[in-house]
Amino acid sequence: MASMVKSFAVIVFLSLISKGYCACLDKINILTARSGREIKGQPEWNVTVTNNCPCTQKLIKLTCQGFQTVEPVSPAILSKDGDTCLLINGKELPAGSSVYFSYAWDPPIIFWPKDSVGVGC
Ligand SMILES: *[C@@H]1O[C@H](CO)[C@@H](O)[C@H](O)[C@H]1NC(C)=O
Repeated sequence: MASMVKSFAVIVFLSLISKGYCACLDKINILTARSGREIKGQPEWNVTVTNNCPCTQKLIKLTCQGFQTVEPVSPAILSKDGDTCLLINGKELPAGSSVYFSYAWDPPIIFWPKDSVGVGC
């Protein structure tokens, strides 16, 4: 019994390590640039979210407090739930790949990576 408890503890510990390694939120880079266009009188912003982690990430969530737009953004790309936005419906974003979307509002907001889950690392 004691050895079972021990191996369970080891498994929990290992999964914590791999989760910590995989999360790599600091390598999910978000770039916002003015597109130069105006939509319904609001400046348009192009946002690029790049996964610079060494492995695929899924369930990527961004902090998007106060996010509003007069230009529709497909919920398949970004869906807002309170102060959190889910990227590409939580689907996998391979290492080195980017997701792009544009929105129009003044002022722009700063998106921050909030959560993600590493796949296969
Ligand atoms: C902004 O995004 C739009 C739509 O994807 C694209 O046509 C345009 O070239 C982009 N502009 C800049 C400055 O990146």
